[in-house]
Amino acid sequence: MKNIVVLVSGGGTNLQALIDAENRGEIKGGRITCVISSKADAYALERAREADIPTVVVPRKDHYSSKNYSEAILAELQKQNADLIVLAGFMTILDECVTRAYPYKIINVHPALIPSFCGEGFYGLRVHKAVLDYGVKVSGATIHFVNEKADAGAIILQGTVEVKNDDTPEALQRRIMENVEWKLLPKAVSLFCEDRITIRDGKAYVDV
Ligand code: GAR
Repeated sequence: MKNIVVLVSGGGTNLQALIDAENRGEIKGGRITCVISSKADAYALERAREADIPTVVVPRKDHYSSKNYSEAILAELQKQNADLIVLAGFMTILDECVTRAYPYKIINVHPALIPSFCGEGFYGLRVHKAVLDYGVKVSGATIHFVNEKADAGAIILQGTVEVKNDDTPEALQRRIMENVEWKLLPKAVSLFCEDRITIRDGKAYVDV
């Protein structure tokens, strides 16, 4: 069984989707062993406690730089014997001390179709606002490995939704979460834990 450590910062609906999938027996070969939050008041921590999953808070505000914070996260990941790290609404970009220690072992969910609307500054509702401002007709979410560049690691799964004329950022976010994120994140996590993702030339392929 692989040890899955989930990193969160906010509401934790993606963490909930992972917990529910695990309870349904849909995460084959892995179990969530710890939830680490960058904020002490993240609602995601309540969800973890409710599911009897150990929690750790590593507050971003207590660390003066991204490097310094990433070192604290790395120490905790090593302590937890993490086999897979899932960034589920984790709002801090991790320094290369973490990404180098866990190549192709960190999975992120990004709420747009990478390579569009991604990179530094594109997170949460800002992404959906940018999508609506541009006027694209299709958006979605991307599940990808994390490397040293923001939102640039190998793509594992993507799913799409229609953008509607009268969408608000909140409505679009909800549609993408319900139809894509909450389904594809647990699926990608299970594929990883079943060793069904192969890397070739820096790209990820799901074995069928
Ligand atoms: C999700 O939409 C996730 O894709 C996004 O934040 C939300 C977190 O929701 N992540 C990013 O923007 C990361 N760049 P949650 O806390 O309810 O899972």
